[in-house]
Amino acid sequence: MKRFRVRPSGPLRGAVSVPGDKSIGHRALLFAGLAEGRSRLRNLSGGLDNRATRAALEAMGVRFAEREDVLEVEGVGLDGLRMPRASLDCGNSGTTMRLLAGVVSAQRFGVRLVGDESLSSRPMRRIVEPLRARGAHIAGVRGKKADEHYAPLSIAPLVEGERLTGLRYESPVASAQVKSCLLLSGLWADGVTSVYEPMLSRDHTERMMMALGVPLSTAGTISVLDPDGWERRWDGFEQTVPGDLSSAAFFLVAAALVRGSEVEVSSVGTNPTRTGILDALRQARARVEIVPRGEVNQEPLARLIATHGPVAPQRLGGEMVTRMIDEVPIACALAARAPGRTDIRDAEELRAKESDRLSAMAELLRAFGVDVVELKDGLTIHGGLALRAARANARGDHRIAMTAVVLGLVAEGETIVDDVACVDTSFPGFAASLRSLGADIVEEEVEA
Ligand code: S3P
Repeated sequence: MKRFRVRPSGPLRGAVSVPGDKSIGHRALLFAGLAEGRSRLRNLSGGLDNRATRAALEAMGVRFAEREDVLEVEGVGLDGLRMPRASLDCGNSGTTMRLLAGVVSAQRFGVRLVGDESLSSRPMRRIVEPLRARGAHIAGVRGKKADEHYAPLSIAPLVEGERLTGLRYESPVASAQVKSCLLLSGLWADGVTSVYEPMLSRDHTERMMMALGVPLSTAGTISVLDPDGWERRWDGFEQTVPGDLSSAAFFLVAAALVRGSEVEVSSVGTNPTRTGILDALRQARARVEIVPRGEVNQEPLARLIATHGPVAPQRLGGEMVTRMIDEVPIACALAARAPGRTDIRDAEELRAKESDRLSAMAELLRAFGVDVVELKDGLTIHGGLALRAARANARGDHRIAMTAVVLGLVAEGETIVDDVACVDTSFPGFAASLRSLGADIVEEEVEA
């Protein structure tokens, strides 16, 4: 088993880059696989989640070749996927499973989608129900909650004469995975797909569809795909994936908290549906400079520079939480050092992530000596007191593991974070990057 030993360090200083954005990476792979002809993708994350999407596409006949820093993808077109020989293994990746479910539901072959233990306990009814409503033959298995569907998901083929129908769906949750699953399945459907969300979730799928000429339009939290008159095809394309703000967030918060630090992260994606963490840092009066660097493939980019300074408590809720859904754990580390009371609300979705992140963060903060109250939809954190080193349980969740490391940098004594192989799902090389900035972090292999 791999674990990290972390000790409080001197200032973190220097520049780092982060892996390509995981969400955009999944979509770049899918849209390249479904394109007609060759696409060239740069700066894909290399994390296990994106690899799972690539392997699934490979199993359905898409060919990939790595040439230096470019991944070439030979797209098969919307009618070119073929039946895989075995189940498709989505690993730990909810995005892989939910987006692929949309794609596979529209095919004339059946597929079983499987995942690891964490993914097999995440809710799938949110995609099973709307996909069935448009004619897909999909079912999950029973599990913890009686009315829920869990992976493995079995998807049976559409038979001769069957096609997915149009769909108007009001999603009860703001979820880019649900929205993208339905928009993707809409590529093959007869009729209009419209998805309404309670709040706008990340819109990478919509941006990519529009860039490729898919007849999609959006207005606020509504996305409409109307294939009437569309030839249902796009050409191969070139794409450079922006750095992942969700990964950069660990460095930004670490720099804000560790005395004397100044850290620069180059070329990070700053799509406004993702920048809640930058707003949270600003609200906490942390010093973060944002230097815009234009756009690549409809996605805005910036250079981010964070400097150490005092941080203040705040209230996080509403649409801001949706725009920083994956950064709430690291925002808790900020709260732990902010003298006073931070309230996080409207965050119940965190219970359905790679771990129950509200419960995991409450446990983690307590291990560092922080006073925290766990609520149904959030946390109340009383911050500002000295942190003591902890023995941290990451619960197999990459973002909890990396948050524990950042807390360890500002806690007295040596923190041990157990079972950190999960970090590779989004950020292989995390510890080495942090070390290059001056952090005292060691990786070691121990008997399980
Ligand atoms: C993602 C959407 C979000 C996010 C996840 C990636 C995506 O999940 O938490 O890490 O790439 O579409 P939900 O759609 O479940 O909110």
